[in-house]
Amino acid sequence: MSTEPLPNPHATAEEVEAARHDAKLANVLYHDWEAGSYDDKWSISYDERCITYAADRFRLVAGETGWPYGRALELGSGTGFFLLNLMQAGVATSGSVTDLSPGMVQAALRNAEHLGLDVDGRVADAERIPYDDGTFDLVVGHAVLHHIPDVELALREVLRVLKPGGRFVFAGEPTRIGDAYARRLGAATWKATTTLTRLPVLQGWRRPQAELDESSRAAALEAVVDIHVFDPAELEDTARRAGAMGATVVTEEFSAAMLGWPVRTFEAAVPPGKLGMGWAMFAYRSWQRLSWLDQNVLSRVVPRAWFYNALVTGTKGGPVG
Ligand SMILES: C[S@@+](CC[C@H](N)C(=O)[O-])C[C@H]1O[C@@H](n2cnc3c(N)ncnc32)[C@H](O)[C@@H]1O
Repeated sequence: MSTEPLPNPHATAEEVEAARHDAKLANVLYHDWEAGSYDDKWSISYDERCITYAADRFRLVAGETGWPYGRALELGSGTGFFLLNLMQAGVATSGSVTDLSPGMVQAALRNAEHLGLDVDGRVADAERIPYDDGTFDLVVGHAVLHHIPDVELALREVLRVLKPGGRFVFAGEPTRIGDAYARRLGAATWKATTTLTRLPVLQGWRRPQAELDESSRAAALEAVVDIHVFDPAELEDTARRAGAMGATVVTEEFSAAMLGWPVRTFEAAVPPGKLGMGWAMFAYRSWQRLSWLDQNVLSRVVPRAWFYNALVTGTKGGPVG
């Protein structure tokens, strides 16, 4: 019989209160609650659009040498967005998805099964990874480091479970400066959308009040789960202190983040499915154009700490097995 913890998608008021002072409990409640709707909320798919997105993030910080890696581990997998799309791109041949939230692990395993990928999974805390030393060729994560109380401890664990010569790649981490402007833009978009959709003529664009109230309660937990923002140079130091070789941080998305945060917040503020595939493609293409501008023009003149997303990589030293 499995001893895996079960998802708890309907937290009680007492649990939510306790979670205000416990970042890990908050992560479990918040992400169990979100697991069922997460892919829709963040426009996550397992087709060409997100395969390209995931593979491009990986290439940007770690290049293409070593593809395909053998066995890969994802920490804080959520519904599997990063690893499942990387596997579809040919970055790794088999994988293990892990997350603190049982609901997310279940969702990721369901997605992997639909895609026919060689993936297993379990509930795991990144600060105490339940795998033996030297198990993996690659460890990845997307938007997870900023939720982990002790990032250096988690990176030490990552290096422990990597084989000698193995690599880690974490993407989608907010920088200190990027987070400041993204939050302001997101909050302004939420307020504008939920205010304007009170107008009778826009009623069809308003989510039911109960759902909006639930989102606001979740937002209170979001403030507890978002523990860190990163300065690129400090994150490199943290990875080096954890024992990584060749620790490198690159950043991306400046103008693209200024578009992306309002767009994602707007998508979350209107009824699911209302915007359709045409909107998703329009938003994605616009984001792509601005990303091109960021990468090819603005990165030459804007300091790296001002870009929204940080990506970090490094390897485990020692003879490659
Ligand atoms: C923002 S979500 C990102 C999910 C997914 N990687 C993605 O990009 O769509 C962060 C995930 O990290 C998980 N998480 C938070 N703290 C964790 C920890 N200490 N160990 C493992 N996972 C954790 C959460 O449960 C959540 O699923």
